[in-house]
Amino acid sequence: MEITDSNQSMIVCGESGSGKTESAKHLMRYFAYNSKKKDNNAGSGGDDTKESVAPPKPHKSGGDDDEDEGFQVEEQSIEKQVLAANPILEAFGNAKTILNNNSSRFGKFTKLVFDEEHPPGGTPHDSSQQHDPDAPPRKKIINPKFICGSFIETYLLEKSRVCKQEPGERNYHVFYHLCSDGGLDKATRDKYYLEAPDKYAYLIGGKTYTVDGINDPKLMKGLSKSMTSLKIDAEQQDQVFRIVSGVLHLGNIRFKPLSADSVAVEKECEVTVNQCATLFGVDEKALTARLTTRNITVSKQVITKPLSKADAEQNRDAMAKALYNGLFLWIVYKINRELFPVEARKDDLKVRVCGSSSSSSSSRGRSF
Ligand SMILES: Nc1ncnc2c1ncn2[C@@H]1O[C@H](COP(=O)(O)OP(=O)(O)O)[C@@H](O)[C@H]1O
Ligand SMILES: [Mg+2]
Repeated sequence: MEITDSNQSMIVCGESGSGKTESAKHLMRYFAYNSKKKDNNAGSGGDDTKESVAPPKPHKSGGDDDEDEGFQVEEQSIEKQVLAANPILEAFGNAKTILNNNSSRFGKFTKLVFDEEHPPGGTPHDSSQQHDPDAPPRKKIINPKFICGSFIETYLLEKSRVCKQEPGERNYHVFYHLCSDGGLDKATRDKYYLEAPDKYAYLIGGKTYTVDGINDPKLMKGLSKSMTSLKIDAEQQDQVFRIVSGVLHLGNIRFKPLSADSVAVEKECEVTVNQCATLFGVDEKALTARLTTRNITVSKQVITKPLSKADAEQNRDAMAKALYNGLFLWIVYKINRELFPVEARKDDLKVRVCGSSSSSSSSRGRSF
């Protein structure tokens, strides 16, 4: 990148379990380590705290890495924030499969953006400049040294896993983090009405609740820290975990047929509907109606039709998958908002509009 003055790409490919995710994390740690090291050597521009990004180190699986434990709020360097995105994405987008205990169930393209100056105070960008048309144009980057941001694009999260898993596999890690004994304090678990994972229809498919090398309680604590580091505040985290818990409870709602093509929620599941409504912050009656009927628009008139048992189950699962997928995309959006510098966003726009695969030579960012 420094020699050719052009963007560089690295493609990590291989079959499932071959080490792509781990290699990509090592690469990111390497860049983050070098970025901080240059900062220290240069002695200018960066924050003057003693914090540093740990050098890349031999692989240790889930829950034992610093990176997986998350990062302290005080340690807000951009490098640490970039690395903090990994445990969040893994919690929501990775799961145990037959081939890999920590398999990424979505496609990912990570762009690292470099600058020759360290962002002031270690923060990635100044959002007050976001819409400033009078801001001076950025100079060309001659000697890119420091990570000033990153952008993550994700593709096609495997939604079917939210409702069903093959034997020996698990749902997404975050469900087990939340349910784990010692992950959340008791009051918070109670607030989300959480029980052990084997109590949930959406978690019992694979009959596997714990995984060697994945410390669910520890990862739960780390997840919260990493989210805080990426400015997903306590209230937003609460909303996120309400939705994750609500999805779990949704899966436990069963239906009894009233006729060949109409259903009601089973009596003993009414409390679960109530819990879901509380967690999602919606009206219980409206949720029941959404679970047992559908609206059809005919000639601009909305007609409510009952659902058969099979349709109601399918509808419930579709709701769970859409909620989880929407939540995943929102989390990626939040991470990108925090980590992607404004100027580089403009460049990215240029790339998209031109349909080109690389940004112009006058662009500020250098990506990997
Ligand atoms: N560099 C490494 N050192 C030790 N074990 C590794 C290394 N890379 C991968 N592994 C092991 O292989 C597993 C699968 O790696 P992963 O990167 O998740 O595969 P992929 O992303 O290609 O599906 C990891 O969970 C880990 O146990
Ligand atoms: Mg992977």
